Amino acid sequence: MKTKSDIGLIGLAVMGENLILNMANKGFTVTAYNRSTDKVSHFINGRAKGLTIRGADSLEALVDSLAVPRKVMLMVKAGAAVDAVIEQLIPLLDEGDIIIDGGNTYFPDTNRRVAWLREKGIHFIGTGVSGGEEGALTGPSIMPGGAVEAWPEVKPIFQCIAAKVEGDFPCCDWVGEDGAGHFVKMVHNGIEYGDMQLICEAYQLMKQYVGLTADEIHQVFAEWNKGDLDSYLMEISRDIMAFKDTDGTPLVENILDTAGQKGTGKWTCVAALELGVPLTLIGEAVFARCLSAQKDERVAAAKIISGPESTFDGDRQAFIEDLRQAVFAAKIVSYAQGYVLMREAAKEHGWHLNYGGIAMMWRGGCIIRSAFLGNIKEAFDKQPGLANLMLDSYFSEKLQAAQAGWRRVAAAALMNGIAAPTINSALSYFDGYRSERLPANLLQAQRDYFGAHTYERLDKKRGEYFHTNWTGRGGDTASTTYDV
Ligand code: 6PG
Repeated sequence: MKTKSDIGLIGLAVMGENLILNMANKGFTVTAYNRSTDKVSHFINGRAKGLTIRGADSLEALVDSLAVPRKVMLMVKAGAAVDAVIEQLIPLLDEGDIIIDGGNTYFPDTNRRVAWLREKGIHFIGTGVSGGEEGALTGPSIMPGGAVEAWPEVKPIFQCIAAKVEGDFPCCDWVGEDGAGHFVKMVHNGIEYGDMQLICEAYQLMKQYVGLTADEIHQVFAEWNKGDLDSYLMEISRDIMAFKDTDGTPLVENILDTAGQKGTGKWTCVAALELGVPLTLIGEAVFARCLSAQKDERVAAAKIISGPESTFDGDRQAFIEDLRQAVFAAKIVSYAQGYVLMREAAKEHGWHLNYGGIAMMWRGGCIIRSAFLGNIKEAFDKQPGLANLMLDSYFSEKLQAAQAGWRRVAAAALMNGIAAPTINSALSYFDGYRSERLPANLLQAQRDYFGAHTYERLDKKRGEYFHTNWTGRGGDTASTTYDV
């Protein structure tokens, strides 16, 4: 073992332990520390035995064990705990040392910490780490941002332990300034919510409308996973459908239908609302989890409010193909919306994001990994300034081909009373986005009618505002014009 460690890691929950093991397996020497130090000895004498991993029983010992510039990675619960550890580390570190936060931190906190630590001469990196416990051990997707001066120090470790795609391409690269890494990880999680909900809606339609069994749905997902929808989430959904409970019934059918969430999907939507980006699919996915959580109310409501009896008498194979197209088209919409959000955030915060590079970071290792991300990379290679993924020739052709089936599925869901919020709202976005004229002219008229909020005219140049005295009772005074 080297006399000084390459990196120290604080926080020995499963992600922290597995990242350390991953680093040690790749030849790095790592110091492990945890606030309750019995966890350190348990780890050192257990999973870390025989590897280039040393334990520290205090933060001082951790810092003393590190090669300069010191690199300390935090894998502690996002929020106050991160600030508390940073406060303790500051007096122990020297200028030029590096603190890395690898938790699911809310990006404004990372913005603040980068600036705070810069004042002290310490480089702060906030990095997304995705892939769950297995990814952490064998190759996660890593999305670092913050103090770019520190990147050359951290890069060899992170790119070495990250997942590799297309030969030896690491699913890790510098994302951008301040909280850009955590922002991109947050959008990843939002997209994860959307992908999961889309698969859930397909499952529900196949089960409730077409009447397929879990084993039959397993077969469908297995087929889908061989084509455009090839992804980690499709793969695990395929396996979940085939998994049997101890009594031989499909385990999935014995699980309570209330979804949990830790907040990253909600943050993505909050960011979208703040930036004025229509992130409808992820929004619906977050709200679908909220609605699922109101189990008692739903059970009571089901006794009072009824909908149509769902009946299926069509061609199963044809409907399943329509459904595949609907899921694929809605997935394109979701990623298109997520990328618009990143572009608007980059403008707002002055970040320089590489959109094709982000697709490659997500191409392997992370929860949303899929073949599809390779197509997104190609789209941004062709047109780095692409305004919306739906406008790329590959994706617009796919949407065109999927459109008829997508509409049939949306109509079937509506007519048969089966909630499919992401499939349906994505279609509304698609139709809205491709509409040269929306009814916002009436909306502006309404605003002007009741509040003198003014409107622009088609026959006048943009930026010229008009007010009409709609009733004859109002005056000519317009309210001030501003947009949030
Ligand atoms: C990942 C995941 C992970 C996330 C879980 C749970 O990229 O490895 O996104 O960061 O915490 O998926 O998220 P929810 O509890 O919000 O579903």
